[in-house]
Amino acid sequence: MGVVEVRHAARNRLLRRIPGVGTAAAYRFGLVERPHYAYGVRRATELAARLGHCGVTVVEFGVAGGNGLLALAEHARYYSTATGVAVRVVGFDGGLGMPPAKDPRDLPYLFGAGLYTMDGDRLRARLGAAELVVGDLTETLPHYLRSRADLLREHPVGFVSLDLDYYSSTVTALDLFRGPEHEHLLPRVTCYLDDLPGTVDQIG
Ligand SMILES: C[S@@+](CC[C@H](N)C(=O)[O-])C[C@H]1O[C@@H](n2cnc3c(N)ncnc32)[C@H](O)[C@@H]1O
Repeated sequence: MGVVEVRHAARNRLLRRIPGVGTAAAYRFGLVERPHYAYGVRRATELAARLGHCGVTVVEFGVAGGNGLLALAEHARYYSTATGVAVRVVGFDGGLGMPPAKDPRDLPYLFGAGLYTMDGDRLRARLGAAELVVGDLTETLPHYLRSRADLLREHPVGFVSLDLDYYSSTVTALDLFRGPEHEHLLPRVTCYLDDLPGTVDQIG
C-alpha cells in the first residue's frame, strides 16, 4: 500500500468508531480495509447474481504478508451473504519475497529480489477457506487454470488485484485473460492495478 492508502485506511478505522456506523454502513461508504477490494468483490458478486452464476472467484496476484488477501476474504464473506453468491478467494505468490528481476521495466532499482517476506504457515492459519497458491507464477498460473478448470467454470473469475510490482510478473498474470477459452472468466472482470510509477501529483 502507498502512503495515501495508509492514510485513508487510518481515517476509515477512525470513522468506523463513530457510534451507529455498523458493518453495512461501513461497506456502503467505503470505510472498510482496502475499499477498492470491497468494490471489486461487490461488482463480481452482483454481476454473477444477475447472470445466474452460483459462485465467483476473486484473485490477488502478489500476497506477501497477506493483509490484502485477508481483507479480500473478509469482503468475500460480506458480499457472499449479501448476494447469495459463493465467493472463492485465491492468492498467488512466490512465497520467498520478490524473485530476481527479468526485465529493466521491472524497475530493479526500486524493487529488489527478496523484498516482501511471507510467513506461509502463519498466514494459512488465518486464511479460513481462502486458497494460497505458492510458487512462481509462470508455473503456478497455467497449472492452476488447467487443474481447476471445472471449478472455475462454476465460479468464474470476477475480480483481480494485480500487485506483483514487477512488469514481467504482471505480464504473466495477464495470461489469465488470454484465450481461446474464456469460460473461467465473467464477461466483465473488475481489475485493480497497484504500483503505477510516479507520485500521485505526477499522475494527476
Ligand atoms: C507488493 S507485494 C504484494 C503485497 C500484497 N498484495 C499486500 O497488499 O500486502 C508483491 C508480491 O509479489 C510476489 N511476486 C512478484 N513476482 C512474482 C512471480 N513471478 N511469481 C509469484 N509471486 C511473485 C512477491 O513474492 C511479493 O510478495
